[in-house]
Parts: sequence; C-alpha cells; structure tokens
Amino acid sequence: MCGIVGYVGKNQAPSILIDGLNKLEYRGYDSAGIAVHDGQNINILKTKGRLSNLIKLVIENPLTGTLGIGHTRWATHGAPSDVNSHPHMSEDHVIAVVHNGIIENYMEIKAELLEKGYHFISETDTETIAHLIDCYYRDGFSFEDAVFKAVSRLEGAYALSIICRDCPGTLIAVRKGAPLVIGKGEGENFIASDIPALLNYTREVYFLEDNEIAVLTENSITIYDKDKNVVNRDIYHVTWDIEAAEKSGYAHFMLKEIHEQPKIVRETILKRVPENGDGIVLDNIKLDKQELDNIDRIYVVACGTAYYAGLIGKHLIEKICRIPVISEVASEFRYMDPILDERTLLIVVSQSGETADTLEALRIAKRNGARVLAIVNAVGSSIAREADDVFYILAGPEIAVASTKAYSAQVAAMYILTCHIALAVGKMTEEEFKAIRDELYTLPSKIELILQKENVEKKLAEKYKDVRNVFFIGRGLDYLVSQEGSLKLKEIAYLHSEAYAAGELKHGPIAMIDENTLVVAIAAQEELIEKTINNIKEVKARGAKTMAIAMKGNTKIAEVADDVIYIPRTMGILAPVLANIPNQLFAYYMALSLGTDIDKPRNLAKSVTVE
Ligand code: AGP
Repeated sequence: MCGIVGYVGKNQAPSILIDGLNKLEYRGYDSAGIAVHDGQNINILKTKGRLSNLIKLVIENPLTGTLGIGHTRWATHGAPSDVNSHPHMSEDHVIAVVHNGIIENYMEIKAELLEKGYHFISETDTETIAHLIDCYYRDGFSFEDAVFKAVSRLEGAYALSIICRDCPGTLIAVRKGAPLVIGKGEGENFIASDIPALLNYTREVYFLEDNEIAVLTENSITIYDKDKNVVNRDIYHVTWDIEAAEKSGYAHFMLKEIHEQPKIVRETILKRVPENGDGIVLDNIKLDKQELDNIDRIYVVACGTAYYAGLIGKHLIEKICRIPVISEVASEFRYMDPILDERTLLIVVSQSGETADTLEALRIAKRNGARVLAIVNAVGSSIAREADDVFYILAGPEIAVASTKAYSAQVAAMYILTCHIALAVGKMTEEEFKAIRDELYTLPSKIELILQKENVEKKLAEKYKDVRNVFFIGRGLDYLVSQEGSLKLKEIAYLHSEAYAAGELKHGPIAMIDENTLVVAIAAQEELIEKTINNIKEVKARGAKTMAIAMKGNTKIAEVADDVIYIPRTMGILAPVLANIPNQLFAYYMALSLGTDIDKPRNLAKSVTVE
C-alpha cells in the first residue's frame, strides 16, 4: 500500500518524483504529495485525491530543487485529507518523511513527544516519525544517526524516505517489512517502492533488505544494517522494458494485461517445459523424489486471486499426486496454529511477493521447520527472498489492481508443479505427462482465440449491466474458477457477487435469487455438466438471468442458459485457465459500462503490505 519515491542528483526533482509516482499510483491513490529541497528549505505540496490533483497543484505552484521525496497514499491512519497526506514534516520544518506501512507503537511515541512539547496536526502515525527524528536531531545527533536512533524505536512494518533541511544533498531510505528499491544512476540516485518508477532513469537497482538503512547522495549509495555496519549488496540489472509498465495503447492496464496472457502463459510454460527438452526444468527448486518422500503434508497459502490460483494447485495435487493438501487464506493461516514441522511443505503464491499476511505465513512456517516454496511474480521481492525455493512466473509488471495475467501464470505454474510432483512420486506415467504437456502448449493460442472474440463479453456486459446481484456457480474446478470470477466483478464493478459451489445453492442462497439476479455458471468440467445444467434450470425457474461458460461443442447447455460463452476444447484439468478469461473480460466490460475506475478501484491497493 502507498508508493514512495526519492531523488537526489543534479536534475530538477519535482518532475522525476511525479513521474515515479505516476508509475506507483496503483499502490494507493487517495492522496499524493512531494517535498523538495530548494537548497535552503524543504517545500511541500500535497493534496487529497488522485495524482492528477497534485500535478495541478505543482503546475500552479512550481517547486525547484534537486533533492526530494514523494508519496501516493492508501490511507491506514486518518482519512484521506490534505493534512493527512504525505510528506509529513517536523514542526520546525527540518525533517520531511514519506512512509509506507504502519507504525504499531506510534501512540506511545506520540505521547512521549507531546510531553516534550511537540504538536501534531495530522491523524497519521507518520507524523510521529518526523517529530521523533527531529527530536534526536535537536539532541545533537547527526541526521543519519537521528534516523538510526528513531528507527530503532519503531515497531511495525514500514518503508521510509527522509530528507533534512540541513543536508541538501542527502536522501535516506529505511526498510522493514515494506518494499524499497534503490536505483543507481550516473550522478543521481533514486528510491522507489517498485521498479517501474525507476525504469525511465536506470536499470541498475539494489533491493534493500529488512532493517537496512541506505544513505544516498548524488554520487554514492551506502547501505547499512541496523547496527550501522556497511552492507555489500549485489546490483540487480532489470531486464524488462518500460513498455511492460505502460498501457501501450490500451484503454486500461487491466485490458492490456488480459491481452498479454497468451504470451505470458507461453513463457511460463516454455521456461519450465522446453519444447525440445525431455521434461520439466525446475532449475534450483529442490523437489526431487527424496525430498518429496520426506513431506507428508502440503499447505497452499495466499490471499485473494493468488489464493484462488492456489486452490487450483491444491485440487490438482490431491487429485493427481494423491498427497493431502490443506489450503488456507494467509490472514487466517497465521492465526490458526497450523501443524507445521520439517515434514511440511508450504506453497505460498503471491504476485507482488510483498503481501503482509502471506509473508508472515511463510515466516511462521520457516520458524517451525517447514520448507517453503514460493510461486511469485516480482523478482527480488520479500517472499521470493525468504522462501527456500522460488518458482518465478515471469508475468512482468502487473499494474492494474485487479490481477489477471498473474492468475493465469500462477495456474500454469500449478500445472507444471503438479506434473513434476506426480512424476516424482510415481503417480503419472511419461505418456500421461506427454499428453498433458502437448495440451499445455496449446493453451496460449486457445487463450488468443477467446480474446479475439471479446465482443461477446462486451455485449453481455451491456445486456446485464443493470443486474443487482450476481452468483457464480460451478462444481469441482469450475467452482474454483467461479471464486476468482466473482472476486473480479466485486473489485472492479463494485457489484454484489458471490461464488457458490453449485450444489450448495439449495442450502440457503437460492432464497436470494430473483429477476434482478444474474447466475454465471462455469461449466467446463464436462463430467459434471449435467448436474450444473440442473442448477441452471433451478435458478431460471426462480427468475434469474443465466449465463454459462462451457467448452465448444456443448450444445446442451445452450438449451437452458440464456447466454453461453464458448471456450476452445481442452482437458478438464487445464480448463480453468481458459474458463477464467471470459470472467475477466466480463468483469472488465461490466466495470466499463458502470463507469468505475477500472485500474484503480475504490478502497483498494495493488500490494497489501499491512495486515
Ligand atoms: C486481485 O485482483 C486482488 N487485487 C487481490 O486479491 C490480490 O490478488 C491479493 O491481494 C494478493 O496479492 P499478491 O498476489 O500480490 O500476494
């Protein structure tokens, strides 16, 4: 949540900060601000609302200076308002801070500072940090040491970027539990919450680790551990292009990312199952027969869309490998006292690799001796760095808050992982694997076929845009796809929508069905289709409008459902990745018809780095 940027160099900071914030707005967008050092003083512009409001403010009140910090906010403490926006300053305007995360003990520190005579103007926890650093600075500590002293008092998860009126060439970055990347330029250096904010300026980055503090000048970057020992960190060269983080002519990032799926699924599959190779290449991922023999329990843990991708993995590993798998959302897993030991494998799934609950689940598992395999998109993210093994999905930057391409790549990763485990434990023959592999190779072109007909979903969204309630139903893997479809519609179209196992409808929710209800039946599991058809009949009899997603050639379903979206034929186990694409397009076009902010839906942020 929240995006932070920082710049020190020879160029004018305001435009660089705004450009960076523009790339980070997906992280939070209820207010934005910048602080720029003009050589004498720190000047701040900040405002409630989108970044466009800040840009207007900056045009009307231009700032100059070659050192600065910026912030785009997703409110935690204090409602979105001008005064709660970041940056926050110490009372004497000596220290300015931007912050991503939560300071858990800020009330205690605030009480102490109030007693010392400090005044607070905002409701944020961040203002406490500015005053606390200022307090140590006034006590005679240098700017750097005042930051070290203050940070040693902070509890919680945070990333900070700080400047000081008396140090016009110094930018400080702090990280504990929230992402921060340092960009190395020529005669200029940068800080950002995520790589896209840096790519217009540099591809050479350092990932800051937890409890590290970096001091940047235009010509130097020094990384310290919490005891102020210098840390040597390898530089990472970013290989993907800035275009990957731009809209490239699409109306929204979400639509662009939906259309990237054929390419991404192809790359995810080919990296691990090369066309001319003998089998599955997991590189350094240690999951051979011996290791698997030492595992008697698997957990799949994640949040939101990543969790729904994880559920496909759970279903497949159990069905094909016959190993028990427990799935749990990370926010519950961390408090349910899970049974974990060295015979447990925890599979965590995360696009950002920074989701606080998933990261904590990983840490709990590791503390209890379990092995952790992470399926992650963001290279170098906290989850990727802390897991024992990482399966990168190679989806490139996902900017839209609603996850689409990451889900498809995560599901593809689950197919590969399942085949690998099944082969290793002897639950799949080479012939069976080859059949699945050959079908896997066809998925990208089948996704392309669905995307070519996106007018179908567009027209259906126009037809159904006035429904008030939506139920997604399905059985088996179709039910798992329903859950992701329902989430997509909720988050970007703000429509009340629920996913139900089709057989559960009669146990309560059918009471809600009326003529204002749309029921979307996912019916790609052909052996279960008869039963789903019966469920469609039941809801139709009660007035619901009905839409189905089924494999091509299934004419029976067209006799009952009002509308059918056909997907190309494939193996049942591979159908989820195809059946989900119409759900994505339908949600996108529903949101478009309803006029919501598709890439930045209200109340949400891309990366949930708070509990
Ligand atoms: C997806 O559309 C959501 N925005 C959200 O559920 C997301 O999948 C979840 O927060 C997990 O994020 P992660 O994959 O970055 O861990």
